[in-house]
Order: sequence, then structure tokens, then C-alpha cells
Amino acid sequence: MWYLPRESHRDVSGLPKDTNLTDSDKPTPLQSRASGPLTGKVRVPGDKSISHRALILGALAVGETRISGLLEGEDVLNTAKSMQALGARVERTGDFAWKVNGVGVAGFAEPKAPLDFGNSGTGCRLVMGAVAGCPISAVFDGDASLRSRPMRRILDPLEKMGAKVVSGGAGGRLPLTVQGARDPLPITYKTPVASAQIKSAVLLAGLAAPGATTVIETEASRDHTELMLKHFGAEISSVQEGQHGRRITLVGQPELHGANVIVPADPSSAAFPIVAALIVEGSEIVLSDVMTNPLRTGLFTTLREMGASIEESEARGDAGEPMAKLRVRASKLRGVEVPPERAPSMIDEYLVLAVAAAFAEGTTIMRGLQELRVKESDRLEATAAMLRVNGVKVEISGDDLIVEGRGHVPGGGVVATHMDHRIAMSALVMGCASDQPITVDDTAFIATSFPDFIPMMRSLGADFS
Ligand code: S3P
Repeated sequence: MWYLPRESHRDVSGLPKDTNLTDSDKPTPLQSRASGPLTGKVRVPGDKSISHRALILGALAVGETRISGLLEGEDVLNTAKSMQALGARVERTGDFAWKVNGVGVAGFAEPKAPLDFGNSGTGCRLVMGAVAGCPISAVFDGDASLRSRPMRRILDPLEKMGAKVVSGGAGGRLPLTVQGARDPLPITYKTPVASAQIKSAVLLAGLAAPGATTVIETEASRDHTELMLKHFGAEISSVQEGQHGRRITLVGQPELHGANVIVPADPSSAAFPIVAALIVEGSEIVLSDVMTNPLRTGLFTTLREMGASIEESEARGDAGEPMAKLRVRASKLRGVEVPPERAPSMIDEYLVLAVAAAFAEGTTIMRGLQELRVKESDRLEATAAMLRVNGVKVEISGDDLIVEGRGHVPGGGVVATHMDHRIAMSALVMGCASDQPITVDDTAFIATSFPDFIPMMRSLGADFS
């Protein structure tokens, strides 16, 4: 039987008034214990990266954009609210179906109140880029986690294009007020780290600049912005740069036209049931429509190298984004070495890979994880702590994470989630096969990216209580 996500609580006629999870909300702990085999077919929610971009490009296009399969998680809903605050018309028309009427490139209106992105670095940074190309000022803010994350990496190129930080931003942190450029300049920018957020912010600001804006990356990051800009009618090209990099050039001031977007299922969310099925003996699950863009599938490559049975079928695509059905069977895993250049294609998946590594036989070495330190939490430290408190031997060596797999995990620990959805979900997955139950201190932040994670996992047979 196919599990369908429960109907969203969102008001069909408009956006929710307050979607934010604040640090003052009462924590909701949960315990995960070993269960029988996981079985069934599921469709995990829409891809978060594509959902943000569909709303933002819909808002910057002329005419109507229809989005189906939008992720209705808190992060994306905050982006939807910000688009509305900037003058676009954003409406929910049915389950996971949304309509956006855009204002055109550089057409954003000055928002009357601060834009609150909650927990979402992607929403905040991409919208900052889009605002930087408009002659308006806007206040950017978020929760305690987002307020601790670096924004200088976005502000540096945007200032070169003519935007200004007019208040706040001590040490490049939120809250801060950005004054967009009246006459934005096209630039050529080499990103200092492989980051689709930096690349996308520059390209979105570049939409309003005359001439060509170029971004050079030495390691290619996810290319959803490029693919979707093309889908909305922009002239954009991408060529190989060096061994692993890309040079992306956007012709400024295009007329973007509204488009239809089908959001495939999020491989970063699929990662959780996939690893759970691999580690729980006798499991076999099927996931439909999982996005298989090669710049996102480093985890699948790594798990297969570890011996995982993940079969792909029914490959198809929409607007340049490939997707497929995945069949996953419980597998004996072995430790592997994950090269640093694979990091951009699996940057959000190391937490759950570390769980798989703990259940594998042998050592897994994950190299070049410095970017994990500036995610929703310091994920390098948090991953090590999550494993350690559950009896797994783990070491951080510089920017590498080394996990000693012993084929089983003792468990019995309480995991601190640090306002980080992926820590909560990874720890609950680990508990699906650990000797003793594993507790997470707070599940509230799971709603930022995968609101139905708990019922969906239970529908497969997970024992969460
Ligand atoms: C994202 C890019 C990644 C990723 C984030 C989503 C995006 O961040 O961690 O969850 O949608 O562009 P960086 O590109 O900054 O590493």
C-alpha cells in the first residue's frame, strides 16, 4: 500500500500566520527502538532546494507559476511568506499545489516588516541575492540557529554588485538590513567554498544586472538554480572548469516567464528511510520519484560502495531534473573512504551516512567536512556526539570524521538535536536497529524539512514512542 502524507494543516486560501518554531517552544522528545523489518512504499516530500527556488523564480517571473509537490515544511513556507511580503501573490491551491503570480525581475516591493526565515539558511541567502538586485531595503532575520550562521559569504559578492548592509550584521550575522542596488553590476565571482547558496545568491542578483554575471566554482555544487532559470526562460550556460568545477554565465535582465514546476521527492529526505531499511534486517522498501540529479546523489554512490542494495528503475525527468523509483533492501555494509570532492553532492547526508557507517563492519573515513561546521548546527561535532553517546567509537581528525563500524550499535543514549532537523532524524534512524532504544531530546525541528517523517517511518514499521 502506498503511504500518502497526511493532508497539510495549511489554510488553502492563504499562508499560515506564524510557521516559526522558536527556541521557547516546549521540546518534544521521542524514543526509537529496534523493530521488525521495514516494508512498504512511500513518497518522501518534495525537494527542499527546488521548492525554495520554484517560489523565488515564480515571484521574479511575469505571469503565473504553478508548482506541484511543493515541500510544505516550515523552511519553504517561510520563503513563501517572504515572497508575498515582497509583492508576489502566493496561493495554496490544493495539497502540495501552489500558484505564484510574479512581479518580474527587479520588481520586488519594499517589505513592511522584517523577513523571518526561521531555521532556513537556503531561504534567507537566496532571497538576499534576489533582494540585492532590487532598489529596496529589507530586514533579514531568523531563529537562534540561523542567527549564528555566517552571512559574510553572501554579503561579500552582493556588495561587489552594489548592495549595502545598512544596519546590523555584526560579524556578518542576522538580523541585518540589506539595501539592494539601484543599478546592480554584473560581476565574475569565484566562490571561496563549494556552496550552491552563494552561487545562487549571485545569480539571482545578476538577473537584475545588465550584461553577463559569471560564477566560478572549483567544486561543482547542486545546479538547481541554473536548471530552473533555464526553465523560466533565462539564458544561462554552464561549462566545466578544471577537474571538478564549473563556470556558469547568466545573461542579465531576461524576461522570466511563469512556468509549471513538478517538484521531485527530496533525496536528502529519502536518505533517512533508505539508511533505516539498510540497517534493519529483512527490510525492503520502495521510494517513488526520488530526484537523482548527480550533484545530489553522493550518498547513494557511497552507500553502494559500502555494499548497499539500492536499485533504480522508472527513470524520468522534468525541467532538467531526473528522478527514479528506488528499491532498497537490508544489506551487510562495510566501511569505506569517502573522498573530499564528493562532499558537495552529499553535504546534508553525512549525519545519516555516519549512522550507516556505525552499523557497517570496518572503518569509514569521511574527508573534507569543514562546511558541516556552519550548517543548522556544527554537524561535525554533533555527529560525533550522537554516535559517542550511543557507544560508537568515533574521531574527528582536522576536517575528517572517522567512524569505527562494529556491525551493531549499543544505543541507550539521549541525543541533543541543537535545533537541527537532520540530527533528530538521523538519531531516530539509528534507534531503528540499535541494541538499546535511542532518545532524541526534541523532534520539533523535523517540521522544517520533513513534516511527516514520524508517521511515514511508523507506516514502514519503525517503533517510535
Ligand atoms: C542548499 C545548499 C547547501 C545545503 C542546503 C541546501 C541549496 O548549502 O546544505 O541544505 O538549496 O542551495 P551550501 O551550498 O551552502 O553548502
